[in-house]
This record gives sequence, structure tokens and C-alpha cells, in this order.
Amino acid sequence: MSSCTKRLKKLSLDSIGQASWQAPSNIALVKYWGKKEVQIPCNPSVSFTLKNCHTKTSIEWKPRKATIDNFQYSFLFEGKEAPDFHSKIDQFFEKLIEFIPELHSYEFKISSENSFPHSAGIASSASAMAALSLCLVSFEREMGLDLSEDQFYNRASFFARLGSGSACRSLYPEVACWGESEVIGNDLFALPFSQQLNEVFRNYQDSVVIVDSGVKSVSSRAGHALMNDHPFAMTRFEQASLNYRKCLEILKVGDLNSFINLVENEALTLHAMMMTSRENYMLMKPGTLEVIEKLRLYRSESNIPLCFTLDAGPNVHILYPKKHEEAVKKWISENISFKVIHDELGEGPINL
Ligand code: PMV
Repeated sequence: MSSCTKRLKKLSLDSIGQASWQAPSNIALVKYWGKKEVQIPCNPSVSFTLKNCHTKTSIEWKPRKATIDNFQYSFLFEGKEAPDFHSKIDQFFEKLIEFIPELHSYEFKISSENSFPHSAGIASSASAMAALSLCLVSFEREMGLDLSEDQFYNRASFFARLGSGSACRSLYPEVACWGESEVIGNDLFALPFSQQLNEVFRNYQDSVVIVDSGVKSVSSRAGHALMNDHPFAMTRFEQASLNYRKCLEILKVGDLNSFINLVENEALTLHAMMMTSRENYMLMKPGTLEVIEKLRLYRSESNIPLCFTLDAGPNVHILYPKKHEEAVKKWISENISFKVIHDELGEGPINL
């Protein structure tokens, strides 16, 4: 991905325009945990793209009077000025300036909103970075950048990765994979996998149990950093690469028993890494274990192939096939006392 990608038009100094995109959140099946500079993952990962949990972002641009070495933008989050987000946007633009030099010669009005409550405990950085990246590639297109459809999404994924690693997987329908591997994938941007997806995973359900919606005690950034000198790091990266290959095969053939084993193992390994790092910590809460135990009991009694996965946090994602939707939702409403956000696999970003 180079900064000298072909620009067809010469920058027109009176070009005013706008772009709006909706981008979804995603949940990893094989987890990305540990990174090198700059947002290069230590192992490949694969995720489900969600549908209902998404961010809508619009940008408007107009030329600045002079090109100055800072960024000029306003940012509204859910209709209100949100200065707390400025340092994140500044850092993001700083990383993008070598690819989008026009960021210095235009001023932007950015506004963004999430479909899920900000304090729900669902990471919003993936959908937010993906939506903003799509708007910026639309801006580049208006500036004359010549991109095929695939190149458009790959470039947005490349930008989103620089904002937040896992965000690069939020650009594609249903399933996305990211990271160097001999099967499929590269470190710079994610790729779609849905064409190879087995029918049993179509419309797969994800009911997110919000065990705790508070701010995490240890950020993902600090968590990734603790993998640098983690005693199990090398073993973990090898295991994740193997699980990545296995997971893609499972997603192709539709083997649900292997899926359950692998996905739960990945979730618990992620948390095991946190519990065994130099500065150890625990993001699971008693409610997390309570939900997992109930789920395992229900699975053995009902034979319904549901399973769980976890993000870097206490909330439990309950994954199950569409055909069991009614039974599982009934079980959840009768047995889980926490708030639940029902989601499912989605079709990826939407140009609004
Ligand atoms: O994208 P980051 O830096 O917030 O890291 C996210 C890491 C996990 O969500 C725990 C795993 C993953 O692959 O999404």
C-alpha cells in the first residue's frame, strides 16, 4: 500500500464533498494478541463480522486557505462535541498523512454514532475506525484516486488497522481473516473469507451477554505490550497460527464440534495469557464464569451446538446456528440475568 497510488485528477482547490459509511463491529474466533510495530500482528486471526453492532460516520470536507502542518477538523459523537476523542483522531491522522497528504490541505467535519450504547462494554473502536477509514478512502476517491472495488476495501482495511488492529477485519461480510499465513492472509490488511463459508455458519447468531459495562482495568494496548516478554508468547503464536489454519478449514467444512472446541479454547487462552503475563491481571468477572457454566450445562442437556467466546473483557459472546435461534433465545431470557444484545453475522459495511 503506497502513498503514490495513482491519483487521476489534480487536486481541485474548491472541491467540497461528503461521505457516509456504516461499519460493523467484529468478534474474533482466533484471537490477535501481541503485536509488532506498526500494528503488525504476531499471529493471524479470523473473525465473524457482526450486523447490529455498528458505527455510522459521516465526513464533510472543504479546502483550507493554506496547507498547514496540523489537522483541522471538528468531531461530533452522537450529536455532541466530543473533545475526548481528539487525541485518538490526531494520532490516527498522523499515521495516515504519508498515505493521504491531502489531510493537511482540507478541513473536515466528522460526526459519528454507534448503534449500541457507548457504555455497553462492547468494543466500539473496530466499527468506529472501519467507518472513518471508509469515509477517508471515499474522500481519496473524490480526490481522484483510482481504485477497484477490492482495492477500495483493502485500502480501508489497511487504514483501519493503523487505527486499531482488529478494526481491519470489520470491512468484509460475514468472515474476515488477517495476518501472514501460508494459507490466506497478510499482515497489512484483512481479507474476506465469506465465499468459502459453509452454509451452517450463514446467519450464525451472536448473543452478547453484558456481564459488566465498566471501563477495563487494563487496556488492549497494554495487554498486547505484555505479550512482548510473555513466557508463553512463542508457544501461543505457534498455537494461534495452527488454530487459524484449523479454523478456516472448520468454517469451510462446517464441523460444529471442532468449531466449539477451537473457539472456546481460543477465548480461554486469550485470558490465560493475561493471567500469566509479567504483570498479571484478570478481565473475567464472576458473572463471566457463571454464564460459561450455565451454557455448558445447557449444551450437554439440549445437544444444541452453542459455544462461547470472549473479547478482552468480561462479556460473553454466545455463538449458535440460526436454526436454534428460538430455543437459545428462550433459554437466555429464562436463565441469564444480565443484559443481552442479540446480534448475528452481517453483510459488512454499507455506503449511506
Ligand atoms: O484491536 P485491538 O488492539 O483493540 O485488540 C483487540 C484484541 C482482541 O479483541 C482481544 C482479539 C481480536 O482479535 O479482536
